[in-house]
Amino acid sequence: MDATFINLMRDPAGVPFFPVVFQGLYILTWALHAAFVLLAIGALGLSVYGSTKQKHDNNWKIFNPHLIMTGKLSVSLLILLGIAPLLFTQVIYDSGWYVANTLSGAWVFIFIYSLIAGYMMFYWYSYANKKSNGSTLIGLISFAILVFCGILMHNFAVESISPTKWTEWYAPNGVIDNSGWNFHIDIIRLAFMVSLTIPVTGIFMQNYSDFLSTRKDFSAEYLTFVKNLGTKLAVTGLLISAVLFVVWMLQAGLLLHPVVLATIASVVVLLLAAKANKNSYITTAILVVVALFISGVRELIRYNIMSGLGYDLYGYPMNLEWETIIMFLLTFVILGFTGVAFILTMAWKAGKREGVFDASKDVAVTRLGNATLALFITWTMVYFAWGIFALFKNTL
Ligand code: HEM
Repeated sequence: MDATFINLMRDPAGVPFFPVVFQGLYILTWALHAAFVLLAIGALGLSVYGSTKQKHDNNWKIFNPHLIMTGKLSVSLLILLGIAPLLFTQVIYDSGWYVANTLSGAWVFIFIYSLIAGYMMFYWYSYANKKSNGSTLIGLISFAILVFCGILMHNFAVESISPTKWTEWYAPNGVIDNSGWNFHIDIIRLAFMVSLTIPVTGIFMQNYSDFLSTRKDFSAEYLTFVKNLGTKLAVTGLLISAVLFVVWMLQAGLLLHPVVLATIASVVVLLLAAKANKNSYITTAILVVVALFISGVRELIRYNIMSGLGYDLYGYPMNLEWETIIMFLLTFVILGFTGVAFILTMAWKAGKREGVFDASKDVAVTRLGNATLALFITWTMVYFAWGIFALFKNTL
């Protein structure tokens, strides 16, 4: 098979900027998506266990609602941060993504409704936990549904990087199957992705403990309990993930590739940092590097498969569109960075304080909040004015 028909399926309008930039942004944003996927699933899973312990154990009684809240917020962030890699993959690997959506159209619908159901169950679980301290079953169902969403996502990813099998899957034995029920998983790759939930949750727990250590309303005994459990999870989880990663790379024939070797080296450094448990913020910085490497390896696999067939990613027709690029950069850098700085500063300060935090009395938060609001209003006006101008400039 060669890539003639894949090249033909590319968008004739071309891409608005250099494909390598989209590729880089894909790697970056998928790593962000994955971080919150892993934290959401890990925090929810651990809280289900915690909900069986919290009646008799005081540490779990304090920790469990915090785990539930962490998981709940992470689901909303993983959805938000899933959109960016989705857009980038559609720009540079459009054929793969659309084929996967055709082969598994029924699963795509099921994915959306499952995500809604799983997230609603999560809220139910959270409220039930607040009221009665006993909602393990609801939590377990929500957990199972959200893991199922991840399996479906994995199915789409596997299909989109398997062009040599597309014809066979779409028309097995020459008979077209347009039911949309195609389902294909790569068990080692999936197991590796799922295993990462353990170390990510463990490192989060180390962060949690360090962050709250400056507060007087959390006892040292409680914080040590969380930190030690986090360390155990991080170390055990990283060992499991490392083994699965090596098997996956052996299977992909990439074990000795420099990017893969660098990923393994970064995992070893992460393991040592997590085990030493000295400064969890540094451990988190190393985790960010590991996440970028893993995201890079996923892209390397796809790039190798597609370029091996003759799909010339860097030769994607390009139609430089400065208006789009300027709008994107202004949105991303100015509005995005200010908005995120506002939310993070407020969250940090609120978390560090005992009792109620009044953001309106904090100078830095107020300034950042006002700046975000002003930028957002300006952005909305520019966005619509520019859009309307572009729409009508040829007809007026
Ligand atoms: C609970 C919900 C979700 C879970 C557990 C989840 C999990 C995952 C996992 C495990 C992968 C990697 C699959 C692989 O490489 O084998 C993945 C990829 C991805 N996810 Fe999600 N995801 C969820 C929701 C979403 C949503 C709502 C979006 C979009 C808005 C999204 C966008 C993506 C994209 C674009 C990829 C990369 C696909 C590719 O490279 O072909 N995900 N997700």
